[in-house]
Amino acid sequence: MKHNFGAGPCILPQVVFEQAAAAVLDFNGLSILEVSHRHKDFVAVMDEAMDLVKKALNVPSGYSVAFLQGGATLGFTIAALNMMRETKKAGYINTGTWASGAIKEAKKVGVEVNVFASSEEKGFTYIPKNYVAPTDVDYIHFTSNNTIYGTQFKECPKTQLPLVCDMSSDIFSKEINVSEYDLIYAGAQKNLGPAGATLYIVKDEVLGKSTSPFMPTYLDLKQQVEKESMLNTPPVFSVYVAMLNLRDLLATGGVKAMEVKNNTKAKLLYDEIDASPAFRGAVETEDRSNMNVTFLLNDESGSAEFDDLWKSAGIVGLPGHRSVGGYRASMYNALPIESVQVLVDVMKEFARRG
Ligand SMILES: Cc1ncc(COP(=O)(O)O)c(C=O)c1O
Repeated sequence: MKHNFGAGPCILPQVVFEQAAAAVLDFNGLSILEVSHRHKDFVAVMDEAMDLVKKALNVPSGYSVAFLQGGATLGFTIAALNMMRETKKAGYINTGTWASGAIKEAKKVGVEVNVFASSEEKGFTYIPKNYVAPTDVDYIHFTSNNTIYGTQFKECPKTQLPLVCDMSSDIFSKEINVSEYDLIYAGAQKNLGPAGATLYIVKDEVLGKSTSPFMPTYLDLKQQVEKESMLNTPPVFSVYVAMLNLRDLLATGGVKAMEVKNNTKAKLLYDEIDASPAFRGAVETEDRSNMNVTFLLNDESGSAEFDDLWKSAGIVGLPGHRSVGGYRASMYNALPIESVQVLVDVMKEFARRG
């Protein structure tokens, strides 16, 4: 048995893999891979997927849901284009690679970016606090969970301005208050489904207000929402599997129960990191992520031995991101606590050998 600690694409519930596999062979007499996206059976899937997102996150009325392509990377551009108003300025918090990517893409479409808070000077090992968010900008953008570094916002930035969030790596992992945001976007391939779809949750009053002189049809959330994510061929399989996964999430207690499970998994691993003489956490304790746990060996010379141990235990996906090194245990929703226990046991065994 494998224990998948990969950062994404990542583990999904086994039952979802089984249902998805069955639909590849027979969805409605045809494979889900060959069915027309305009067929009523797939339109029903898209409708249910959007509805389940609303149910899972208690999305209030006045918000719409869309599934697009392009990943969260295209989301960087879509967010900037759709949220740009009179000032064409925006405030961004820089907490690492993905936030930096969002900043770069916003600038490319003509947004003047004010990076009013950043943790760059300490290698993105903490979440900036005690900042003053600008008030002379069109919107504020942040990345709720920093997949590479293992830091996570515990609450969203306080601002009166429209708030935009890249929630790619912690959406559906805990309860959120959608009404605090004007736009949320997230690549599917962590807690939602296989790569291919990108989720957008947008306040309706935001739609159609862009001041960008350049707005390709595909990138216009107003048109995407009006066409119910069917402006062109949607990522059919990814949306289908996301729908199955959301059904499973809701049937097993929803986001509230998932949050409890994720807190338990994170505590188990962080307690071991803190207690062990062999390891140390890579980021500020108070800003630790429940999704991506980053840690380092106290003595790097033991890395080959540790790597052998976790690999023989069936663990995969543990090395840290190539840009930071160390180790990263990604513990998305579907990762069972038993897998975390296997990792903890391996860490104990490694420390015991000294
Ligand atoms: C927080 C965050 N934002 C953006 C991205 C980029 O997502 P995509 O590969 O879907 O473009 C990632 C990928 O891991 C991510 O973790």
